[in-house]
Amino acid sequence: MSYLLFSLIAYVLGSIPFALIVGKIGYKTDIREHGSGNLGGTNTFRVLGVKAGLIVTIADILKGTLATSLPFLVGVTEVNPLIIGVFAVIGHMYPIFAKFKGGKAVATSGGVILGVSPILFLIMIISFFIMLFLTKYVSLSSMVTGIVAIIVSIIQQDIGLIIVTSVLTVFVFYRHRANIKRIIDKTEPKIKWM
Ligand code: G3P
Repeated sequence: MSYLLFSLIAYVLGSIPFALIVGKIGYKTDIREHGSGNLGGTNTFRVLGVKAGLIVTIADILKGTLATSLPFLVGVTEVNPLIIGVFAVIGHMYPIFAKFKGGKAVATSGGVILGVSPILFLIMIISFFIMLFLTKYVSLSSMVTGIVAIIVSIIQQDIGLIIVTSVLTVFVFYRHRANIKRIIDKTEPKIKWM
């Protein structure tokens, strides 16, 4: 029963489309019609600028963290927070509030990891920015960071973390299919500010 309840809450939390909300309320812009069309932090940076991009990225991270931490916060210990977190990421990718067309699983997955292992989250942030500095591709940096998260989980011999980082990384790769094709074709846009 607890799993069902917290998974449902996590899905609904994950479904909150911050990129859409910030774009529409703050900038009268539907970011689905601009840039990559993705409802995520990167496209918000691209279309609406640094302030909006930061707000959306942080909010997308925190909804994953909140969903994952919620059982603990209300004193329920018999559910595995990582499993609950996966439902927040599913909500982010297929949001009930945005016709099931959401983001690419990156920030919210990071938020899930932040909720259970802040150290791993920090390693992921460092890995992301090293890759971004080297390649200038946000998408590639996101995917490589997913692989790094799996490797670190294996080194830590944390079986729950190995399974969940693997599942989340599969989500990230699956949602970046178009980016992967563009990287191969050399048409993926690079960031200009690093
Ligand atoms: O967080 C998503 C990012 O990795 C790629 O986004 O808009 O460039 O497809 P986008």
